[in-house]
Amino acid sequence: MEKIAIYPGSFDPVTNGHLDIIERGLKIFDRIIITILENPSKQLLFSVAEREELLRKSLPEFTDVEIASYDGLLVDFAKQRGAHAILRGMRAVSDFEYEFQMALMNRRLNREIQTVFLMTGLRWIFTSSSIIKEAAKFGGNIESMVPPPVQKKLEEKFNRSIGENK
Ligand code: PNS
Repeated sequence: MEKIAIYPGSFDPVTNGHLDIIERGLKIFDRIIITILENPSKQLLFSVAEREELLRKSLPEFTDVEIASYDGLLVDFAKQRGAHAILRGMRAVSDFEYEFQMALMNRRLNREIQTVFLMTGLRWIFTSSSIIKEAAKFGGNIESMVPPPVQKKLEEKFNRSIGENK
């Protein structure tokens, strides 16, 4: 049976930390469905279409991945797609409580679907989409933290050249 995982998130925007989790997740799962879902507690910079496009442009070399979006419960989408796992990256202790709560809620909603955590690579331990957006907004150099299409899009959004203050 094909081992399919859903890799859910806001991806606003995708970062190198996300790409690291996808690459490593592919060593465990046959196929990963990267899924943009709604996180009602987040203020977003990019539309779903923009986030999908950025994921698509940032992932050309991966063949066993699919990009999707879903307006509803993560576990419902996982069931629809025949996925038995949810893949999440865990950075610091600060992520733990939120991830723990979400994993337990998802388990309560559907016991057939297991959440699998991968520790974020040390290089990406301090990065998050939110902090990258904040740095980019004020012209900080974030080029080593995001794929090139994301850097370009952030430059367009904030109307400034991000690599300029090295
Ligand atoms: O990248 P994020 O914002 O940490 O991802 C959170 C996300 C989008 C995975 C989470 O908010 C989510 O699963 N949203 C869909 C609704 C849902 O199923 N929520 C979890 C159970 S209440």
